[in-house]
Amino acid sequence: MFIENFKVECPNVRYTETEIQSVYNYETTELVHENRNGTYQWIVKPKSVKYEFKTDTHVPKLGVMLVGWGGNNGSTLTGGVIANREGISWATKDKIQQANYFGSLTQASAIRVGSFQGEEIYAPFKSLLPMVNPDDIVFGGWDISNMNLADAMGRAKVFDIDLQKQLRPYMESMVPLPGIYDPDFIAANQEERANNVIKGTKKEQVQQIIKDIKEFKAATKVDKVVVLWTANTERYSNLVVGLNDTSENLLAALDRNEAEISPSTLYAIACVMENVPFINGSPQNTFVPGLIDFAIEKNSLIGGDDFKSGQTKMKSVLVDFLVGAGIKPTSIVSYNHLGNNDGMNLSAPQTFRSKEISKSNVVDDMVNSNAILFEPGEHPDHVVVIKYVPYVGDSKRAMDEYTSEIFMGGKNTIVLHNTCEDSLLAAPIILDLVLLAELSTRIQFKAENEGKFHLFHPVATILSYLTKAPLVPPGTPVVNALSKQRAMLENILRACVGLAPENNMILEYK
Ligand SMILES: NC(=O)c1ccc[n+]([C@@H]2O[C@H](COP(=O)([O-])OP(=O)(O)OC[C@H]3O[C@@H](n4cnc5c(N)ncnc54)[C@H](O)[C@@H]3O)[C@@H](O)[C@H]2O)c1
Repeated sequence: MFIENFKVECPNVRYTETEIQSVYNYETTELVHENRNGTYQWIVKPKSVKYEFKTDTHVPKLGVMLVGWGGNNGSTLTGGVIANREGISWATKDKIQQANYFGSLTQASAIRVGSFQGEEIYAPFKSLLPMVNPDDIVFGGWDISNMNLADAMGRAKVFDIDLQKQLRPYMESMVPLPGIYDPDFIAANQEERANNVIKGTKKEQVQQIIKDIKEFKAATKVDKVVVLWTANTERYSNLVVGLNDTSENLLAALDRNEAEISPSTLYAIACVMENVPFINGSPQNTFVPGLIDFAIEKNSLIGGDDFKSGQTKMKSVLVDFLVGAGIKPTSIVSYNHLGNNDGMNLSAPQTFRSKEISKSNVVDDMVNSNAILFEPGEHPDHVVVIKYVPYVGDSKRAMDEYTSEIFMGGKNTIVLHNTCEDSLLAAPIILDLVLLAELSTRIQFKAENEGKFHLFHPVATILSYLTKAPLVPPGTPVVNALSKQRAMLENILRACVGLAPENNMILEYK
């Protein structure tokens, strides 16, 4: 059975006019490696830590500014939200299709809340805590191409033509603000697109971005803004001591107009200065150490990197399953071809390298979790190939071959072939990223040994379900396995309303 919403009633939870307050016992373990009677032993001690959470229940009017607004993702997301808001339906060759938010964790997935008269009861994920309704988001942003969003949607060739016709009147007047363009950071083949660029020094460009955010906020009367990079993949920035290694050096380098500060880092600097959450949906190292340092100093949310939409998502499910089942993946080979502008940009070696890096570490935590299968330092062979094939447009092909060792030296090969419009996968992920980033800025908590409530760490690990190479605070383990990432997110939101983590024990039926 499915219920639309619910309220938790228990002494640990209080709903006030402005907040949901919960007291939550976090059950964890503490490990010690001790010498007991002459031999070292691992001792695991269960431990319970009391946490208090408070969630501001005032849902703000949210503005989302996309960097790369006129790209395939930007135009698909904007059109998709308008179609939902306006209740648009359109004719396809199969049927009359209604707008929906399929593919969005917050909008289209469910959580189990318990059982009632022997039946399992589920509710929408979004019913856990008050969240912004995506229909109410006001979109804006920047693009180095001045094409309006209606034409950009046509250029993207993602939506059916009947839908495009209905969306055009809403999108013709949406024109991206000029963006920061630096041909050194993206493929040379993007140059003819760049007719809408901010002039001036890097510092002046940052000041312009800050001005744009302020003007957008004033003009749209939104309460909060989140900025998200869905522009071209950039090459990696060189990490240079004295240039981008600390926040002080990065800001000094900005004053000196140093060439090695990428456009994406410039947008991020502007956002951190203004305390506006900034999310990076592409693979490059926008968050150089100096930027991470700066965000931590200013306690301003940053999240990334690279939307986890297709092939990598499958990988973080399949390898988790294989290793979890005691099967040893020994070779993982991923071929992609795509024909959209993203594919054209990735055809340059430096930008492809960024993608290759972001896709490469995705199985590490799963491999490292099982020393029965893998010797220390041993890894499956893992190769990623991406080719630009214009004809297939946004409809990306991903072909994966997983070879594993099974019982008694046997070999097992699984082959997957995935065909899908890339932007239809990415758009709902962008929505989740901005909705969850906004929500996380309304949650405060403290452990029993902490005096004051505080926000989550500004490096937003809570978003890792949605990203290929999750950015984590220094010293924090990276988790790539999709089911763990989802459980982390769901269980934190459950804790905010005083619900225990979903443990799937269903003891009541045993
Ligand atoms: N679609 C997916 O499934 C997916 C998954 C993971 C990551 N990504 C990443 O998302 C990004 C966007 O993908 P897309 O398919 O929309 O690409 P796209 O090329 O269609 O769109 C990118 C847009 O960014 C603009 N742009 C480039 N540099 C800019 C700058 N400095 N400032 C402002 N605008 C700028 C371009 O003009 C273009 O309109 C890519 O980096 C891609 O690798 C996409």
